[in-house]
Amino acid sequence: MNGIGAQFQATLDLVDQLTASERAFREVAEEVVRHLRASYPHYTWVGIYMVEGEGLRLWAWDGPAPTEHVEIPLHAGVCGWAASTGQIANVPDVNKDERYLQCFLSTRSELVVPIRHGEEVYGEIDIDSDRLAAFGPEDERFLTELCDRLGALAAAQGLVGHRPGA
Ligand code: SME
Repeated sequence: MNGIGAQFQATLDLVDQLTASERAFREVAEEVVRHLRASYPHYTWVGIYMVEGEGLRLWAWDGPAPTEHVEIPLHAGVCGWAASTGQIANVPDVNKDERYLQCFLSTRSELVVPIRHGEEVYGEIDIDSDRLAAFGPEDERFLTELCDRLGALAAAQGLVGHRPGA
């Protein structure tokens, strides 16, 4: 396995330990955002938004500064698009995407991966990067595996999700 592949696997192993630890979802989310930001230099700002009613609320984040977007309606932003469709949004240049809600002037690209289990979308990991086109298919695969683990935990802890198309 190459360097980044081994690092991705180490993160997934850590997340397996966290999800087996009987900690509340919010605490696991806080550990995950801290770990991701500390471990991957192209992840400039990392947040976990969770579905609450018709919107998303920021449950955990790590980065150089807080965002003003603590709540995002399901129909707004790249974040709302990913949660309402259940699909990954990989935006190579945020200034060219009309869905984009600006947080930080320095952000150039953004990756949003839904946290899902079965039919339900429980939330998402949102990553901003100061690099243009920072996220490749390997980031998408890695974060999908990570979000699968978080989705199973959200379902096991009885969190309420949203069904795309419902
Ligand atoms: N850019 C996001 C809003 C959240 S911030 O990036 C932290 C969006 O377009 O939904």
